[in-house]
Amino acid sequence: RTVYVNGEFVAEEAAKISVFDRGFIFADGVYEVSSVIGGKLIDNAAHLARLARSCKALSIDLPASGDEITAIQKELITRNDLDEGVVYLQVTRGAADRDFPFPKVATPSLVMFTQVKTLVASKAAEAGIRVITTPDLRWGRCDIKTVQLLGAVLAKQAAADAGVDDAWFVDAGGDVTEGSSNNAYIVKDGRIITRALSTALLPGITRASVVKLAAETGMTIEERPFTVAEAQGADEAFVTSATTFVTPVIRIDGAKVGAGTPGPVARRLREIYINHAL
Ligand code: PDD
Repeated sequence: RTVYVNGEFVAEEAAKISVFDRGFIFADGVYEVSSVIGGKLIDNAAHLARLARSCKALSIDLPASGDEITAIQKELITRNDLDEGVVYLQVTRGAADRDFPFPKVATPSLVMFTQVKTLVASKAAEAGIRVITTPDLRWGRCDIKTVQLLGAVLAKQAAADAGVDDAWFVDAGGDVTEGSSNNAYIVKDGRIITRALSTALLPGITRASVVKLAAETGMTIEERPFTVAEAQGADEAFVTSATTFVTPVIRIDGAKVGAGTPGPVARRLREIYINHAL
């Protein structure tokens, strides 16, 4: 696999980043994951807009323009002959002797790689996924897409240990914030319910597309919090992200959602989303 590191395309074995890189030392960096279908980037302009927003929130200077980044992403797709999967990109504040405040001199690092993934004909989407719920122990700026992902790592490991597919975060008030790496939704009496954007969750790019496409199709969306009990009693549940698109959730903490099989609203939205992406 060829990867991109600070201006160069190199074999992954030859790629180097400083041990003093603040991404490595402080998780002082941000990232994006854009999906690729048929060699084409999906919703990428919106991912790059969010990258710029994340960088701005942390006062990290983006080391390349949106057009330059897109050109690098496309070059990487070509070099790796990527048909279906993702392009991961990460921007960190750069390398400097270890000290907490922003360094006076540091050049931000830009790293990108591709991953092959089956996204469209996904078995998880076909069968639906099982989730557990877990306390949301993350920090107060979950709207910034930082590489500080231990909350998600521990939640996904807890899910794996429980023999299920993923985890949903629940805040101190008992409301679901989002999935460990996706946005969370329920469907009740034909209404799609998802938490409104705030600093408590990531403004998903797939969420924005799905909300828009659902509204255009005449579906009703209600942006408000919901509890685990409400989700377990819903007709359907699903998640959205660049890697799952729209994926039905069939069990929450062991309880069946609806019939315990993927529901019609999630299936329809997945189809509409994929068609929009093609
Ligand atoms: N995760 N919420 C969280 C916490 C996420 O990490 C993600 C994305 C999303 C969905 O965002 P989007 O629709 O823009 O992918 C919501 C990526 C896929 C990841 O970390 O791999």
